[in-house]
Amino acid sequence: MIRSVVKGSGSSLPKRVVTNEELAKTVDTSDQWIRERTGITQRYIAGEGETTSTLATAAAHAALADAGIDAKAIDLIVLATATPDRTFPATATLVQDALGCDGAAAFDVAAVCSGFLYALATADSMIKTGMAKCALVIGAETFSRILDWEDRATCVLFGDGAGAVVLSAEDVAEDGPGVLASRLHAAGEHGDLLYVDGGPSTTGTVGKVRMMGREVFRHAVVNLAEVLEEVLTATGYTAADIDWVVPHQANRRILDATARKLGLPIDKVIVTVDRHANTSAASVPLAFDEARRDGRLKQGDLVMLEAMGGGFTWGASLIRL
Ligand code: UT7
Repeated sequence: MIRSVVKGSGSSLPKRVVTNEELAKTVDTSDQWIRERTGITQRYIAGEGETTSTLATAAAHAALADAGIDAKAIDLIVLATATPDRTFPATATLVQDALGCDGAAAFDVAAVCSGFLYALATADSMIKTGMAKCALVIGAETFSRILDWEDRATCVLFGDGAGAVVLSAEDVAEDGPGVLASRLHAAGEHGDLLYVDGGPSTTGTVGKVRMMGREVFRHAVVNLAEVLEEVLTATGYTAADIDWVVPHQANRRILDATARKLGLPIDKVIVTVDRHANTSAASVPLAFDEARRDGRLKQGDLVMLEAMGGGFTWGASLIRL
């Protein structure tokens, strides 16, 4: 059977690290509050010359090098972002040009923090139907540019970065590698709990992030537990079969609660929120790449990716490496 097999991964973070202490100098917060409520100790913030497309290009470049695949072999680029360089053209086309992926299809996916799961499922479907053979799936964000730096309830939570994976169509056995199943959902009735208060067709401005954090937290834990069960049921695996969970990194307490609901020890969960903060669509591929590179994720491992964010949108994918 044809599956989308992960051939490589890469990531990129801005140069500048901003600690909680540094933030506490400009906004009414404290290192203790941020650590206790979120697990975040620092975040990376894009500086001059660093944009969503430059971070995405660097991550994609690293993923291609890791996979040993030439940019010319890429026939599809799906880039998840809520912070594109421009309203259009799609940031994916800037990456295509920068890498020289001549003739590849390239488009963006807007599903905010679960964008990487939406992008992965889209690329996987296109590979399975024969529309693509070798895809770059990227999550990239510069959320710092849409934060209200006077709103302590949001500005301490987010960071910038990018992660990418290379997926290749391969004929594999039933127990072989590849994306095994993905499930995606949305609940637009909760759009006002996490949104940006601007846009090209309404205010004509970019807008800033607004979030009712406590409400989002409550929905996240419930929705994630449900979609994880759904993917397990679709594939016939149980939580005990999972080697690693690579979750969206919004809050350490959400990671703990989700692991508890699944009955999984927290040491099977890849955690980067302490250093990266919430990088929206970039957080899953950033965590995935970190754990692949440090040797935790190994060939043959069963890995669950999951995320939930603005929309609401949420989803999960089970992958055999
Ligand atoms: O990535 C997309 C999905 N996003 C998420 O999943 C985020 C989900 N939500 C969360 O992670 C948490 O709800 C937050 C981290 C955003 C907030 O934590 P919380 O425990 O839900 O706190 P809260 O919003 O209930 O606020 C508690 C208190 C409030 O003060 P009062 O009303 O109790 O006096 C806030 O004003 O903490 C206050 N507060 C702060 N204090 C110091 C809010 N932000 C800060 C801050 N520093 N930065």
